[in-house]
Formats: sequence, C-alpha cells, structure tokens
Amino acid sequence: ERDHAIDLALFGALGDLAMRKLFPALYHLDREGLMPESTRIMGLARQEHDVASFRQQVGGALRKRLKSSELEDSSFERFLNRLDYRQLDFSTEEGFEAIREWREGSKQPMVVYLSVAARIYGDICHHLQASGSLDEDSRVVVEKPIGYDLTSSEQINDAIGAVFPESRVYRIDHYLGKETVQNLIALRFANPLFGTQWNQNHISHVEITVAEKVGIEGRWGYFDDAGQLRDMVQNHLLQLLCLIAMDPPSNLDADAIRDEKVKVLKALKPFKGEALGRDVVRGQYIAGTSDGQAVPGYLEEEGANTQSQTETFVAMKTEVSNWRWAGVPFYLRTGKRMPEKLSQIVIHFRQQPHYIFDPDQRDIASNKLIIRLQPEEGIALQVLTKDSGLDKGMRLRPGPLHLDFNSAFPKSRIPDAYERLLLEVMKGQQYLFVRRDEVEHAWRWCDQLIAGWQSRETPPRRYPAGSWGPVASIAMITQDGRSWYEDY
Ligand code: BG6
Repeated sequence: ERDHAIDLALFGALGDLAMRKLFPALYHLDREGLMPESTRIMGLARQEHDVASFRQQVGGALRKRLKSSELEDSSFERFLNRLDYRQLDFSTEEGFEAIREWREGSKQPMVVYLSVAARIYGDICHHLQASGSLDEDSRVVVEKPIGYDLTSSEQINDAIGAVFPESRVYRIDHYLGKETVQNLIALRFANPLFGTQWNQNHISHVEITVAEKVGIEGRWGYFDDAGQLRDMVQNHLLQLLCLIAMDPPSNLDADAIRDEKVKVLKALKPFKGEALGRDVVRGQYIAGTSDGQAVPGYLEEEGANTQSQTETFVAMKTEVSNWRWAGVPFYLRTGKRMPEKLSQIVIHFRQQPHYIFDPDQRDIASNKLIIRLQPEEGIALQVLTKDSGLDKGMRLRPGPLHLDFNSAFPKSRIPDAYERLLLEVMKGQQYLFVRRDEVEHAWRWCDQLIAGWQSRETPPRRYPAGSWGPVASIAMITQDGRSWYEDY
C-alpha cells in the first residue's frame, strides 16, 4: 500500500467536479484504508482562501453529499487534515514555484489533476515544467472533453505531450470507472458461454442506450457549443461500443486492451450520403414533464440562445466493419430529459435456423442479454421456457435469468467511478484511461458525421421533455423490423 502514496496537486479545486465527485471519492478511498498515510493533497484555485477556510468548504461539500453513516468524525478529520490550499493564477508562471517548494524533499510521485477547461491544460503543463515542479515520475490526469474536434484535440494532446509522455497521461472517461462497465470485460472474457457466441454468426444486433433524466443543469453555454454527440457519444457511448465489440486482448495490460479498442474505432463505418438521413436522428427537447413536473424546453432554459440548433438527443445505426461484426447493426441512442436515467446494453441473439413453435410467437423466440449499467446494476439473460399449465400446450414464455448486483453482493457498496479511477492513478495503472489515439479516432469518426450534418443543414427534430426522443428515432429501428428494448 505504501507504494502508491502520492502528492496530488488538484487544479480547479473549488470547481463543480471537485466538490461533487473528486473530494467525495478521495474521502471514500481514505476511509476505506486505500490512501497511504503520507498521501498529500494540495488544492489550487484562483480564489482567495486560507487552508482553514478551504478545509471548511470541502467539509461542507462532503457533508452535503455523503450519508451520515459515512461521516465518522475520525475519518472526516483525518481526511480534511490532509488538505492544503494555494491561491494560484493558472495563466502565468508566477506562483508555480509554490508547487515546487511544496514538493521539495518529497519522494512520492506527484499527480497533477487538471479539473479545469481543456484550453488551459497546455499552459498549466508548461508552467509546471518551467517552474521545475515536475520529475520523471509525475503524472497528469485530464478530463473530457479533449477538444471540440480532431484538430483541437490534437493541439491539446500535443501541448500535454510536450511535457508528459503518454505513459504518464491519464485521460478520464468516467464511464470506464463504473463498476458495471468494467464488468463487461469480465462478462465477455471470463465466460466461455458468451465467448463462443460473440460474433455475427450468433448476434443479430446490439443496442446501447444512455438516457438521462436531467436537462442542461445550468451548463447551457458549455453544452450548446458541444451538443449530445460531442458530450456523450464521442466518449462514453463509443467506449461502451468498444468494450462490446473489441477482440479479446491477450492480457489485461493497458495497451493490450487499448490496442483492441482502437481497432474497433478504426473499423466504425462512416455515415455517407443517404445514410445520414436514414440512420441518424438528431433531436432537441421542447417543454414537457419530468417526474410529473412541468419543465422548460431546451430553448427556454436559462441563458439559452433561442435560435440554437444544437442536439440534446442522438440516435444512430452504425456498424463495425470487420469479420466479427459485418452486417450486425449497433443502434445507439442518448439524450437529455428522457423519462428516466437508464444506461443499458442489449445484445440480441439470432433466432434458431428452423422454428417449430406457434407462428404467432416467432417474434419473441430469441435470446437477449441485457446489461444494466445504471441504475440497479445487473445482468439478465432472456431465455424461453414453456408456459406452465395444462391448458397452455407448447406456448413459449420469455423470462430472465437475472443477476442483480445489489442483492447478489449486498454488503459491497458500489463505488463511484471516480474512486476507482483515482485509485488506479495512485497505483500508476492506465488500463481504465483513454489513450491519445482512441480520442483522436473517435473524433475523426464524429467529425465526418458533424460535417455531414452541416452540409445538410437539417434542424433537430423536437421531442417533449420526458419522452424517449423524436418519433423518427423509433422509426429508424422499426424500419429494420426491430424495436428498442423496453422494460422500463
Ligand atoms: C458527462 C456529460 O460526461 O456525463 C454530462 O458531460 C452527463 O452531460 C454525464 O450528464 C453523465 O454521467 P453519468 O455518470 O451521470 O451517467
């Protein structure tokens, strides 16, 4: 355990992400005995604070977010006592020597966490280097979005790369830290049953849904520049797709896994011509309801530009053009202001070559593997049995073989994604982080889609808040004789 003690320099320590996710995650790691005694945490931000008032602020944020049963006095005090604070203007080198001084004499690696806008990643890296604060063990952690398109992401990656080699860059996609997402690796590569079925001979199509109940949550400015494709598909959905579609890596090393993911990204079919209209649906929510309450439309949110054509929903049918997946559609959809928060992958297996039961039941006669990422994490395999009862004849009944993680492992708290990711950074393990070429291939694919949209100038289709998206997204899949899996 001692080996993974670090000095954590957290830039943007008073920001939303730090307060909402990073400090609670660090606290949990400390409380569970996963943070070596000598670990030090330095908060850095522009605001004026002394250490006491900074600790007070973090303490307040923790109290607001954690359960009272998680806040024993001893762990709480111990954690707050680790925190230090420096006021710093990130745009000039002046002041960065404070970090060098803080590090002087320390033998543990420094982790620089950049919880700030990506456009200043490069400046901060440069100032850290110029002030002599780094050494050959220093690591950097960066958040998405890495840029806005391929060109801007290359510039940001170059600026980081001028200071940190790739082996010490940790790009976060927090979906990779979710327990159930990591479970995809176990599910696919530890179960021979699925291993033999995982290809176009046995799978007819795959659905990936990442639906959010929330709207824009006061982030209109950021979101409107990005849109749902850049905000969610470029990273989270494509990472899920990669984990489902990749070939088995030869071991669990970071690069073995990431090499396989990159091959999937390279094999993603681009959208051309007709396919842009037929296989992709952009949507934008209008006023509707959420949990029975009236909520405004996207263009009526605070700070909105009422002419915006930014999408808050996308659905698409794509394909991975390789031997394993040729001809197997991957239907993806993600949106804000859906009826519920739901992240789920459904693998639809092919039907039997010859069907002998009631012709009316033909549609239901296939197996589905439903992987529920959130909420109520679990896995269900839909199988067909005979409906019981003397009067039923040979009627089929689909029913799940169900593994619900909460009841199967009742004692284990499902850790937040950031806990897992911070722990891996502390240990210096990169397999849950995104490599530069992954980010760039994902952008390349998104860029061609965005360029296609721009050339067609089609406005997003409207959908009421609290619905499952524009009707066209349902038509997109029904025209293939299929439907979005519904079990809500
Ligand atoms: C973030 C997006 O990356 O992921 C947000 O920027 C989105 O727009 C969030 O709400 C969803 O994450 P989660 O963990 O709540 O599914």
